[in-house]
Formats: sequence, structure tokens, C-alpha cells
Amino acid sequence: MRDLFNQPNDRRGTNSSKWDMLESKFDVPLEDGLSMWTADSDYPTAPCVLAALQKAVNHGVFGYWADNTDYHNAIQWWMTNRHGWDIDTDWILTTQGLGNAIAFCIDVWTDPGDRIVTFNPVYHEFEFKIRRAGRAPVQVSLARDGDTYNLDFEAAEAALDGTEKMLIFCSPQNPSGRIWSSDELRQVAEFAKRHDLIIVADEIHHDFIYPGFTFTPFDVAAPDARDRLVVLTASSKTFNIAGLKTGNMIIPDDRLRAAMTQRLRSLDYAPNRLGLEMVTAAYTPEGAAWVDAQIAHLADLKSTFDDGVNAIPGVRSLPLHSTYLAWVDFSGTGMSFDEISRRVRQDARIAPSPGPEFGPGGESFLRFNLATQRYRVEDAVARLQTAFADLQ
Ligand SMILES: Cc1ncc(COP(=O)(O)O)c(C=O)c1O
Repeated sequence: MRDLFNQPNDRRGTNSSKWDMLESKFDVPLEDGLSMWTADSDYPTAPCVLAALQKAVNHGVFGYWADNTDYHNAIQWWMTNRHGWDIDTDWILTTQGLGNAIAFCIDVWTDPGDRIVTFNPVYHEFEFKIRRAGRAPVQVSLARDGDTYNLDFEAAEAALDGTEKMLIFCSPQNPSGRIWSSDELRQVAEFAKRHDLIIVADEIHHDFIYPGFTFTPFDVAAPDARDRLVVLTASSKTFNIAGLKTGNMIIPDDRLRAAMTQRLRSLDYAPNRLGLEMVTAAYTPEGAAWVDAQIAHLADLKSTFDDGVNAIPGVRSLPLHSTYLAWVDFSGTGMSFDEISRRVRQDARIAPSPGPEFGPGGESFLRFNLATQRYRVEDAVARLQTAFADLQ
């Protein structure tokens, strides 16, 4: 099955934002550039997901959708079997992906001018969505200890002024790939309670767990926090179907769920049926076997990438617990971020995500998406080694 992830392909000219924006966004030539920024994968989704789509296409009629029972049962099955999390299907509300879900949460539970807390470096869109909605981000730096990031509650307490309404918490963390322990999650819950914050736990990367690590859903670690908890999950990263725009808010608390349901209804909000059919097919034993094979593929690539990149003096690709996003620190090169970026984009012709976008702590980093074929990762390593050859 692992060959599925190494078949050569060309995504240029397919309306792929990852590839077709290489020149406009990064000034990296489309002709021979390597796209390693946004978090979507270059290999096709699981055969069981493709088969479900094929079946729908063969039927050829795409009328209104009737019933979410199979879809909800599939999500329930996945959470129980893959994450040890027993959920009630009534808790599930569906959105157009999790970017959309985050925006809905900000809209429903905060007002313009309110402050929203994040622990950084973190997925850059948290800040962008907070600002776009006219709210103010409070970015609390994680404490870095060598290769590990830790939650710094002292810094968090000091950063608050009492006008905060929400914490958007990434678990596992994008970009560092950090998985939070149950104990840490409980501390986050206590912090949120002390400051009366709604917790939006973004668990979109929860399926990418490398051997030796265990992911605990927020609701499992801190069930007492349910009265303030909204959990976001999606199969979009796991199965590489982000373009289908299907994600979920899982909200155990009746009062919180009623508030969100009311807003979704008032906007006549409904997801598209193809996304629901694909997710239903993904969250199955066949889908699970494909995910396991994908994780083995990614673990191999990460080790190839790290061996090559860490051989460049002053460059450190941090070990990952989760995600397929290599978080690489260039601070040891002594170069300015502009020079690092110039070498990577112009000399190596690679487009990773710029670390500063992820907020405090990302200043000397680039984030490389490794969810691709082996030949592309090997090519990226060779290009980076050449671009920084003068350091050898
Ligand atoms: C932590 C996190 N949340 C949300 C998203 C966006 O998810 P979606 O494509 O479902 O909108 C991403 C995408 O990279 C992400 O990394």
C-alpha cells in the first residue's frame, strides 16, 4: 500500500493553491519549483474515499441531501476506535472545513474588540481570522526548551487584562508537531476556567501520530471543561480532501451547541453532499489502514529529511510527535531571515511557509510540508544542501 504515496504526479495547472500559487505568492518558478508550504498532501486520497466519490459520480444525480445518520455514525466510529473518545452523534455540527469553523466560533462567542488567546508559534490563520473579525489576538509564547515547546502559564497570566473571551488551542500543535499530555490539557482547562474563556480545541492534526506517541482528545483529558469546550475535527488533512471543505465542531455542552446551531440555522448553513459521502467512506477500517500506511510513509520521509537537513551546520529540523510539517530552525546559521528565505526560494527554488507568520517564536523558522512523494523530499534535501553549501 505504501507505493500509493510515491506515485509521481504533477499538480500544476489543476487549480491547486499549493502549486499554482508558487510564482504569485513566493516568486518561486513553477517550471521546476518545489511547493512545500500549505498543509495539503501531494498523493491521492484513500482508494475507499475515491470509490465513494466514483459511486456518486456514476449515479450522476446530486440533489439535496436527506440524512446525516451514516455520516455521524462514521465520525462516532472513528473517534471511538482511533482516539478512544466516546461522543454522542448529536454533538456534531458540520462546517465548510475548520477555517470556517474557527471563524464561526469567533463570531458566535466573542464580540468586536474582545481579546482571544493563542499559544505561539501556532497556525497563522488563528491570528488572521481573529483580526479579520475585528477581535484582538493575545499571542502567548510557548517556552522552548531545546527541541521541545512547553506551555508557559506564567507568561499567559501576565499577558491577560481581563477582556479575553476565548482561547484557540491547537492540539496537536501546528507547526511544532507537539502533542500535549493529559496533564497539560487539564492545565489549559484550568487556565481557561480561571479566566472564563471558551476553549476552541483545534484537533485537525490528531490522526498523524508517530510511533511512540499518544494523542489524547481535549474532552477525554478534561471532561470537566465541557461547559466551555468546542472541539474541531476534520478528515481534510488526514485524507487529503481539504478542497471538499468538510469539517466538524463537536460540542458536548447543550447550551453551547444550541447557540451554534441557532447561528448555523439563521444563516441557512449546510455542507455539500460530496464531502459528507467522502468522509463517511474515509472513517472506516479501510480508511484506517490507509492512514496507518500513510503515517509509516511520513515517518520515513521525516527521517530522510532530518538526516539531510540537520547535516547543514546551524540548521535544526525539530523532532515531530505529530503532523507532516517539519519545523526547521535556521538560527544557528547566523543569517538574517531575509537571507535564509532568499536562499531557499531563489537558490533552492523551494516554497516553505515562513516561520514569522506563526507569530512569536517563529522568527528564524521555515515550515516544510513533507506530505509528498519520496522523490520530492530527496530533491528538497539536495537543493537545501546546495543552497547552504558554503556552510559545510
Ligand atoms: C491547525 C489547523 N486548523 C485548521 C486548518 C484549516 O482547515 P480546513 O482546511 O479544514 O479549513 C489547518 C490547515 O492547515 C490547520 O493546520
